Amino acid sequence: MKPLKIGVVGLGTVGAGLLEIAFGNGPLSKAVEIVGVSARNKSRKRPVDISNIPWFDDPVELAKLSDLDVLVELMGGADGPAKVAVETALKAGKHVVTANKAMLAENGVALAKLAADNNAEIRYEAAVAGGIPVVKALREGLAANKIKKIMGVMNGTSNYILTEMDKTGRQFADVLKDAQRLGLAEADPTLDINGGDAGHKLVILSAIAYSGAPDFKNITLEGIEEIEPVDLESAKFLGYAVKLIASSIYENGVVRQSVRPSLVAHSNPIAQVDGATNAVLIEADPVGTLTFIGSGAGAGPTASAVASDLLDLYFEAKRPVFTGSSATGEEVRFATDLGLSSKFYVRFSVEDKPGVIAKISDTLARHQVSIESFLQKPPRPNASVAIILTTQKCDESTLHAALDELSNFSEFVEKPLIMPIFE
Ligand code: NDP
Ligand code: HSE
Repeated sequence: MKPLKIGVVGLGTVGAGLLEIAFGNGPLSKAVEIVGVSARNKSRKRPVDISNIPWFDDPVELAKLSDLDVLVELMGGADGPAKVAVETALKAGKHVVTANKAMLAENGVALAKLAADNNAEIRYEAAVAGGIPVVKALREGLAANKIKKIMGVMNGTSNYILTEMDKTGRQFADVLKDAQRLGLAEADPTLDINGGDAGHKLVILSAIAYSGAPDFKNITLEGIEEIEPVDLESAKFLGYAVKLIASSIYENGVVRQSVRPSLVAHSNPIAQVDGATNAVLIEADPVGTLTFIGSGAGAGPTASAVASDLLDLYFEAKRPVFTGSSATGEEVRFATDLGLSSKFYVRFSVEDKPGVIAKISDTLARHQVSIESFLQKPPRPNASVAIILTTQKCDESTLHAALDELSNFSEFVEKPLIMPIFE
């Protein structure tokens, strides 16, 4: 078989990782011939020798090359040059392999149409959960299943930050710098911290699971910015770990999607996932529950996923872009998850005054929200008092109504932090 002629645009963490695999002596070295590379800065020192490969200052010029089978896009960014290069390749009928979840989550519908119109394919195993082959699992391994739930830890940077803060008591900003140094974080790390990156991945998985289109509007997004050491300590005391959980839950034709910091029971395997490791749990019928755990970011794991897509194209394994598991063919509606019925963790920040606890318990009782556990941390110098409680199972809208009422009392100095609990 003739090798695929590929052009690689983006030679950072993932791009350089891919070239290392291609220059090795594994199957990829026989399956591809690199006909061009492009990045921003030609003179930047790279961990691989690219002196023998034609260099393109403009990634779009490389995408236009007539002698090209596949454009490998590893630059990043939902719009801008990455998208223009991908569109150029697709219009010319070239296949695209990408790790760019932002581009797929926000522009995937139009790109999938362009691919279909030009008989080209878009492959994106690396876009979700780095080295874990979860895209293939949904598109291929579970293709005959009805998916009921997808949930897990899908952002390595935020999980690394939560783990390090918990284990070492180090400051948020300091740990974030480590994640950037390790090549885990996005070029704009805000997306790692505010839930946006995990949200991009989740809507891609939902689209595959329900043969729909990635829907980044209908997702509740909350990041880890508000999590304080007191939350990590209190959760641990109560038998839980704090994780940034992405979840997509099917019920009666509606798929509720969210990314939120959540409490996960220590007995749940997802609670044990530390550092840059990702975990994706899929509940489906008839297969049951599967949990995938592995490296969710970094050069080697991500490049491994890109390489697998290239090998699929080499062997001509064909699938439509977002079609995967939808045994029934039912059309579903995507929604945010603010209809969730769950146990919740609530942290109030209050002034240290008599009667505050009574106000909390009276108000919750009037709204039929039952308290499961209650914890008051000793006052911190010059700071508000943290009162932590967990509720029994209740509707989130009911809990919000009670908390809105409490916010009218002057002792409640900050908006309470709410996290759902997964046992
Ligand atoms: P990096 O920031 O490490 O690398 C980006 C590369 O793109 C660099 O080589 C850069 O050039 C090049 N580039 C950026 N802008 C331009 C431009 N305007 N024109 C030409 N080249 C440009 O990113 P990563 O390798 O970490 O990520 C790449 C993609 O993979 C992103 O979509 C990311 O979301 C995704 N991803 C990353 C993972 C990870 O663990 N890092 C995991 C999963 C997905 P130069 O080197 O000259 O600066
Ligand atoms: N920034 C992402 C993360 C890279 O930390 O998970 C992997 O997609």
